[in-house]
Amino acid sequence: MARPTTVHVCSDCGHEALRWAGRCPGCGAWNTLVEEVRSGGSNGAGGAGRGARAGVGGSRGGTAVAPVRLGEVQASEVERLPTGIGELDRVLGGGIVPGSLVLIGGSPGIGKSTLTTMAVANLTGAGRKTLYVSAEESAAQIKLRAERLPGAALEIPVIAETDLGAVLATLERERPDVCVIDSVQTLHAAELTGAPGSVGQVREVAGEIMRVAKQHRIAVLLVGHVTKEGALAGPRVLEHLVDCVLQFEGERERTYRTLRALKNRFGSTSEAGVFEMRQGGLVEVLDASARFVGEATHAPGSVVLCAMEGSRPLLVEVQALVSPSELVPPRRVVSGIDRNRLALVLAVLTRHAGVAVGSADVFVNVVGGVRVDEPGADLAVALAVASAARGVALRGGNGADGEDGPPLACFGELGLTGELRSVAHPERRTAEAAKFGLGTIVTPEAGTLRRALRAAMPAERRPRAA
Ligand code: TYD
Ligand code: MG
Repeated sequence: MARPTTVHVCSDCGHEALRWAGRCPGCGAWNTLVEEVRSGGSNGAGGAGRGARAGVGGSRGGTAVAPVRLGEVQASEVERLPTGIGELDRVLGGGIVPGSLVLIGGSPGIGKSTLTTMAVANLTGAGRKTLYVSAEESAAQIKLRAERLPGAALEIPVIAETDLGAVLATLERERPDVCVIDSVQTLHAAELTGAPGSVGQVREVAGEIMRVAKQHRIAVLLVGHVTKEGALAGPRVLEHLVDCVLQFEGERERTYRTLRALKNRFGSTSEAGVFEMRQGGLVEVLDASARFVGEATHAPGSVVLCAMEGSRPLLVEVQALVSPSELVPPRRVVSGIDRNRLALVLAVLTRHAGVAVGSADVFVNVVGGVRVDEPGADLAVALAVASAARGVALRGGNGADGEDGPPLACFGELGLTGELRSVAHPERRTAEAAKFGLGTIVTPEAGTLRRALRAAMPAERRPRAA
């Protein structure tokens, strides 16, 4: 049997080298050589990507294909396999599409294995053929988890296998409707010399699994780990390959987790699901606002943001801390919002509202490990920082000054000239705040940041007009 050889290909210029080097001999870029399979013979075992393209098919052996006018293409309504987990189905756009490839990314311990196990447990219970491939845990470990989970978790057929070849052969033979690969970074393609999890390995593993999955219409939930920096380790290279990319976020120590779609060929990317990790697995949080606002404090630096999670309003607490700094430049630490957005808000606060924090450390946190990636969060950040900088609590949500009553709620985007700009779904946001008894809401109708601050700060502590 002809042994497939591997080549190292530069991801920048495409130069091919037989051996790995830190620097590409072709273009001189550092750390760009990625190992790939170059199938030697005609058997083409494992020859995805370049190997397949350059191989037998091509102009030599191919037969011409007749193009079809788009109008004549028979396209049926996309069929879905509901996982029975409402929040997951919503983020997917109504369930798993047969034959699709879904990448679920998240940091270790966040609950990816739990979520995928629960999903396939429901599918198994609904009579679908499933398969759980674990390259991380032994079958016994998976069983221990499944015992804690509701439903048909113990009915799931599992294999604990790290060899890609064995997994592909099993998929070909079993042909399940839905399969979980946990995780793409721990499977190992024997043809490549790189360690599991390296870019070459991850690409080969995903490419081969996709080939088999599309051939047999197997829907695949591909689990991938995320690095500390928040990027899918290696799998960045997979994002264009898969149909959906779901990100599972939150802090391991906290109970709340959010699931959002970064890419979705069959649905919207604006939906998000909220889960809570409990003893018996992940539980959907349908009344997320109540949880987050119930814990909101009425202290300086705290405000409630009426955010939108996809099409649903969500109330979250935004906290800020401003403290004198020894560092030049001072620290700007954020969690749950974009760092550049904070820089913008601080600049507008300084320039247009007379709140200067130039020589202080500023920390901003969205409580509960939630991420709010929308411009509507600007006003909340501005009010929290202004309140923290002055050391005064904002007005209560019932309009009264002082410590009692519900906290103040707000939303709105900040313009560079200090004006407030309207954001999507103002009625839904105000309605959600009202539902939880937050009567005083500062909205973009205030017009400018200065006026919003005046409405939010107790009378005697308002910033003086500059
Ligand atoms: P896990 O799904 O293994 O995370 P990942 O696959 O993303 O690495 O589980 C994460 C954590 O959840 C783990 O520390 C144990 C906890 N857990 C519960 O609290 N309750 C449960 O019912 C289960 C199954 C796990
Ligand atoms: Mg896991």
